[in-house]
Amino acid sequence: MFVVSGSTHQRLGVALAQEVGAEFCGVINKSFPDGERYVRILRNIAGHEVVVVQNTFPDESIVELLLLLEALREAGATSITTVIPYMGYARQERTFQDGETVSARAVARPIGALSDRIFTVSVHTDEVLSFFGCPAQDVDGLQEAVRYLKGFEPGLVVAPDEGARGWCTRAARELKVPLHVMSKVRLDDRTVETDSGRVSVKGLTVVILDDIISTGGTIAMAARLLKEKGASQVLAACTHGLFIEDAANRLRGCDDILSSDTLEGIYTRYSVAPAIAAAL
Ligand code: R5P
Repeated sequence: MFVVSGSTHQRLGVALAQEVGAEFCGVINKSFPDGERYVRILRNIAGHEVVVVQNTFPDESIVELLLLLEALREAGATSITTVIPYMGYARQERTFQDGETVSARAVARPIGALSDRIFTVSVHTDEVLSFFGCPAQDVDGLQEAVRYLKGFEPGLVVAPDEGARGWCTRAARELKVPLHVMSKVRLDDRTVETDSGRVSVKGLTVVILDDIISTGGTIAMAARLLKEKGASQVLAACTHGLFIEDAANRLRGCDDILSSDTLEGIYTRYSVAPAIAAAL
């Protein structure tokens, strides 16, 4: 078996190859002067099973993934498993207004058509899995987060909104601490209004756990409310750390910020490679 990774996941690809005892296959990927992508796989993978690791974020990664999948098919891979650690566009898994599209389906369909099976990691909603049109399964990235968070001995897990209730319930159970769910209303792409509800946090280390941190607006608001109520430490943890625009600045009220390597960055503290390897 070979593991091939696109430009979003060199490190995770190598770690995954080690975990599953596969060979790592290098790829040349570059952009032409006009921005069009180019890929070339560097090993003879004919007659082998191949695992491809690549995000669908940012947008050019989607084109790169499609080129890789096509190259692997043409080169004679016997089966192609596509691992998408961060499935971009998963938050538009339905239409909210007339004239919109189900973006997650538009992205998933061509990837699924070139893959034999798909693994996502902590995908925003499981509904996305049916859009690939081939066997698709989500890997729980939360286990690794929980293992890491145990070291902080938190006293409470906070879900920043109703959508986070599911994974926060599981995390609170694993950490053997209570759960509190806040309510959030999104005013626009960058602004949210949060009601912290009745909760006692005085002197506690509190973990706010979300699947994605993007602009940091959701977590920043929740962290401010928890600090006002007397929490001694507020940790912000997520699986997918996009941290766009001035997210780092918005999150300065948090005592620590942790994310996985589904999107590698300065807040990456733990790897989802063991969870993906176990699923493979
Ligand atoms: C939304 O449904 C997600 O679970 C996250 O809460 C959201 O993407 C976070 O976005 P931001 O960091 O921009 O508030």
